[in-house]
Amino acid sequence: MRVQDIIAVKRDGGVLEEEQIRYFIAGYTDGSIPDYQAAALAMAIMIRGMEPEELSVWTDAMLHSGSVVDTSSIPGIKVDKHSTGGVGDKISICLAPAVAACGVPVPMISGRGLGHTGGTLDKLESIPGFSVDQPVERFCELVLEHGLALIGQTEDLAPADRKLYALRDVTATVPSVPLISSSIMSKKLAEGMDALVLDVKVGAGAFMKTEAQARELAETLVDIGSRAGKQVTALLTRMDEPLGEAVGNANEIVEAVDVLQGRGPEDVTELTYALGAEMLLLGGKAGSAEEAREILHEAISSGRALETLQGLVAAQGGDAEALVDHGRLPRAAHSLHVGAPAAGVVHAIDAAEVGIAGMLLGAGRRVATDRVDHAVGVTVRRHVGDEVREGEPLVTLSYNQEKGLTEAVGRILGAYVIGSGEVEQGPLVIDVVRGEPR
Ligand code: URA
Repeated sequence: MRVQDIIAVKRDGGVLEEEQIRYFIAGYTDGSIPDYQAAALAMAIMIRGMEPEELSVWTDAMLHSGSVVDTSSIPGIKVDKHSTGGVGDKISICLAPAVAACGVPVPMISGRGLGHTGGTLDKLESIPGFSVDQPVERFCELVLEHGLALIGQTEDLAPADRKLYALRDVTATVPSVPLISSSIMSKKLAEGMDALVLDVKVGAGAFMKTEAQARELAETLVDIGSRAGKQVTALLTRMDEPLGEAVGNANEIVEAVDVLQGRGPEDVTELTYALGAEMLLLGGKAGSAEEAREILHEAISSGRALETLQGLVAAQGGDAEALVDHGRLPRAAHSLHVGAPAAGVVHAIDAAEVGIAGMLLGAGRRVATDRVDHAVGVTVRRHVGDEVREGEPLVTLSYNQEKGLTEAVGRILGAYVIGSGEVEQGPLVIDVVRGEPR
């Protein structure tokens, strides 16, 4: 088989055969197929797209490029959640223990932040001592003992995706529905879950800027899962303004714990319940969304959800006390309010710009090798629909170094649109796409 013939099929808008796909993914993973041929094929896929069956085989080949976690020793329906990435998205940190406290095992393998989006692993690492690097055997033990595990991707989990994602990042081939969905689903299927709830973000702070694009991604992700025999539900959720008040790392841990103490911001709390209800439905612990919400509410108000998180944090080497004694978390040395340039009503906040402001302070990474400062970040003080007087703080920046501060202030001022009159806001959860295993 010649790789250039495989590339030519896709270049000309054809459909790749299973043998061609498996040959290509195996060769790219073992290094016998070079990056330049993979880049050419990725660009052809980006432009030409993939048929559903073709994409299902492509995902399966990526999933089997490494090992697949065997979670059969863990009883129950194991349900995970994945977000396509947003700003201030700390949901996994409150959601996973809340769902685990309701008796649904949550084997969660998360990612790091890049560009304007944050990553769950970086946030968790702001808890002193917490280790996201756990071997697969320990991953299963943690789920058995604590009902959940929050770890990073191991070396041999979908290695084809690791290589391909790095290549896509530098060849302008990231924003492709088949490439994003196969990338996400190959990793999720490799971690051994039985069912999955996806939070597909839509809007200024998301990969998918329009509802139509997000719907296409959600339907594609659900279809891949269904073809792999898994129960997958996708929620389309709004990501125009940042989620909650905290954008950063340690400050997002505090906000996630606030949700578990029943005093989190409304949007973060609502999204936790919306996603949690779907996870309980898939996990067979509730017969309706209403019942699921009641079960979740009990787990949170009784303190069991927070205890579950504390138990897991201690088991992964972290300082569980820091979850409730926030003085033990990293704290920035300086803060600066960014005032409103004019009085009015906040009409819009570009979440991506707020994410970039946080990144400039050190809360995120420009490139994958950058180091994150867990103490710094942004506190959003005025949300869409809020009135503001001239000079009143829109956000507070917490920082350790002056570097990047001036540009961060500029990004915040550019992110806020202040006008007059009332603002119409759409619902946080736009729609739900449900699949059926085939
Ligand atoms: N997240 C992933 O895991 N892969 C992509 O391609 C995009 C987002």
